[in-house]
Amino acid sequence: MKHVRLGVVGLGNIGKFHTGYLLENKISRCQLTAVSDAFAPSLEPFKGRANLKTFANCDDMIRSGEIDAIVIATPHYLHTTIGMEALQRGLHVMVEKPISAHKADAERLIAVHKQYPKQVFAGMFQMRVEPRWQKIRKIIQSQELGQIVRINWIITDWFRTEAYYASGGWRATWKGEGGGVLLNQCLHQLDMLQWLCGMPARVRGFCQLGRFHNIEVEDSITTYLEWANGATGSFVSSTGESPGTNRFELVGTRGKIVVEGGKILFTRNDADMIEFSQTAKGGFAKPEVWNIEIPYENPTNLHSILMQNFVDSILDGTPLIAPGADGMGSVELANVLLYSTLTNQTIELPMDSAAWEKKLNQLIAESRHEKKVAPTTVEDFTKSFSR
Ligand SMILES: NC(=O)c1ccc[n+]([C@@H]2O[C@H](COP(=O)([O-])OP(=O)(O)OC[C@H]3O[C@@H](n4cnc5c(N)ncnc54)[C@H](O)[C@@H]3O)[C@@H](O)[C@H]2O)c1
Repeated sequence: MKHVRLGVVGLGNIGKFHTGYLLENKISRCQLTAVSDAFAPSLEPFKGRANLKTFANCDDMIRSGEIDAIVIATPHYLHTTIGMEALQRGLHVMVEKPISAHKADAERLIAVHKQYPKQVFAGMFQMRVEPRWQKIRKIIQSQELGQIVRINWIITDWFRTEAYYASGGWRATWKGEGGGVLLNQCLHQLDMLQWLCGMPARVRGFCQLGRFHNIEVEDSITTYLEWANGATGSFVSSTGESPGTNRFELVGTRGKIVVEGGKILFTRNDADMIEFSQTAKGGFAKPEVWNIEIPYENPTNLHSILMQNFVDSILDGTPLIAPGADGMGSVELANVLLYSTLTNQTIELPMDSAAWEKKLNQLIAESRHEKKVAPTTVEDFTKSFSR
């Protein structure tokens, strides 16, 4: 294969965004040859274009022979079913985040990929290509920060209005989405948290369902996380708070990193704080520190960088920046923090995926929420990326 023929399914906010840079030929050795959406008007802008087929039914696109790879940008539950079908039909798959609506589905999707290991299976976790997080990961991996002892992330600048929730029948419902702010907005930060620090060993969630909006799922959360080495953390988020905060604070025995307001500040301890504590003569002595601002520039085209990596992986075997299977961690965290809340207990990880699936099915069956749907005004969706 010399170049990749790509199909996109789901032409809503993010699907349309992907088709934009694909049609501008921003991805080398890749051509958008097909699109699919179950909502007929979404296909209209793509009709009549040379070398581009439109499909009302995704199965038809998968079986058409027109594509080598598929980007799945539908509501979450369909990521699993369409992903499995596409893999079984020989396609390479790039799935939007979350890779599945819940952990048991993620396990099913990953199990199917294991049967077709020659096909590339990637996830759209674009924060992984941001230089600021890459630099922080490098600092952690090089032991420059010492042992991690505390992680705090307040990410409450995900403000969303009632109009946002009314913009899609699937949004913020147990049946259509399987969760709220954790599974949708915070999925990127949850991926980052485990990419940087690994998965916690136990968690306790305190999620508030429909606190700020007329929805049945969580839109406000305060959670406690604990890692096997004793590191502790809290993760706080909301779609109802304005002005919100985005502050990430990571403490290691060799210093502290704070990411806030477009800056990375590293306060570096001259000595490991534990060793210092054990050897210092004075009771009030402290390690000397250096204050370092770590420069970085964030590219604006994060999604297309990951898409290029997907294509390069198909054509050249380039390692994936975000393998699909890595998407398990963020789904598990989103699920377990809700499960912990609803069962009122601390949960050890890995969580029991079947228990959460059962609970979720119960929530779906018992749902009495009346979902209101109304089209929103045309907006620049890319504004939702900047934080
Ligand atoms: N990586 C990112 O930055 C990012 C940003 C936004 C959304 N997302 C993810 O992308 C997915 C879609 O989100 P969105 O905001 O674009 O949603 P959306 O509601 O705007 O779009 C979903 C589209 O899927 C279509 N669809 C539904 N069922 C279908 C089916 N059976 N076959 C074909 N098409 C179908 C709908 O008609 C709609 O056009 C979600 O999983 C979301 O988490 C990722």
